[in-house]
Amino acid sequence: MTARSTATLDWSESRVLSPLVGEEEAPARLEGAGGVETEAGSRPVLSSVPLVPIGGGGAASLGLDAIDRTGARVRVDDKAMINARADLNQLLPLKYRWAWEKYLAGCNNHWMPTEVSMQADIALWKSRDGLTDDERLMVKRNLGFFAASESLVANNIVLAIYRHLTNPECRQYLLRQAFEEAVHTHTFQYVVESLGLDEGELFNMYREVPSITDKAAWALRHTQHLDDPDFRTGTVETDQAFLRDLVAFYVVFEGMWFYTGFAQILSLGRRNKMVGIAEQYQYILRDESLHLNFGIDVINQIKAENPHLWTPAFQEELRGMLKEAAELEAAYGRDTMPRGFLGLNAALCERYLQFIANRRAAQIGLAPVFAETENPFPWMSEAMDLKKEKNFFETRVVEYQNGGALGWE
Ligand SMILES: [Fe+2]
Ligand SMILES: [Fe+2]
Repeated sequence: MTARSTATLDWSESRVLSPLVGEEEAPARLEGAGGVETEAGSRPVLSSVPLVPIGGGGAASLGLDAIDRTGARVRVDDKAMINARADLNQLLPLKYRWAWEKYLAGCNNHWMPTEVSMQADIALWKSRDGLTDDERLMVKRNLGFFAASESLVANNIVLAIYRHLTNPECRQYLLRQAFEEAVHTHTFQYVVESLGLDEGELFNMYREVPSITDKAAWALRHTQHLDDPDFRTGTVETDQAFLRDLVAFYVVFEGMWFYTGFAQILSLGRRNKMVGIAEQYQYILRDESLHLNFGIDVINQIKAENPHLWTPAFQEELRGMLKEAAELEAAYGRDTMPRGFLGLNAALCERYLQFIANRRAAQIGLAPVFAETENPFPWMSEAMDLKKEKNFFETRVVEYQNGGALGWE
């Protein structure tokens, strides 16, 4: 049996797998089962095949309609990211190969938190002088931020994004991502249990520590109305609301805020402190890098299919969101690192986030949000390059994957 090596997977954050539809191409056209073609982005009208009403007239399917016994088979051209009328229960034929490739990449990255030894972390956490008070505060607030955030992200995928992304291969990826978010939440349960932390303190930080609450509340604002049973995409207003949600969660939450969180813990790991948690964060970072790239592909594909949504005013609004998110993160940085420590402080984290914000803006085609700034943590790109971590992914995880595959050969 040939081991599937994660070393073959380039998961660097800058890599976008998808060959995106060029902005210059004509807007995609949707063809309803009744054969009436309409411009993508406007409400398609079906002529002969009635669907179960699901809200406002002409709204796209969510995938739970009555089975259409007479309709034509799905053709690639029928598929669309949002507002598709094509049957959502037919994965094939694939239209967005990049989404399928990300699903496969996610499966190849499988890991479980319990595979990582916490012995060194337990010894260090329990020793009197292994960590300074500042380091302990940072670790606890960092864990507290992530512990609830993983659930917030998972809920957004399952309760908001999944319903309105009308493409089966993207939904296939979302199902994989949802499982990975469960694995990440499991990680924080495992860390709390291993170190004997106060679970109530950690899992309530998103309610009790104002700088963490402010971030969670900001993101929730963008997902709450999508959970409204009457919310449907299909108008400029609601399609833009959906894009706002994608930006809030994929670009800001997973693509900006998580990255300063990773930098905090990996900086400790570089000094040989809390190495078990640092190792787990590297696994999470690898997953999140894929989540982020998927989100960016989704946003860019929706833009390509619905260029009328990407107005100058809307772009300005999104740039404002990235700026606001960076300010919230700066407050969180001051809260978690009031004095700072070796190689890491609130000012450096703020600069790092501005660097990241500009990078994310460029990835979705927005003008920079901040003045150009150098990356203060150049070592982060090395930390993300797990191909260099010999005993990390070239032994344990490959062995795990072998073990997982043995029963099937
Ligand atoms: Fe996650
Ligand atoms: Fe994620």
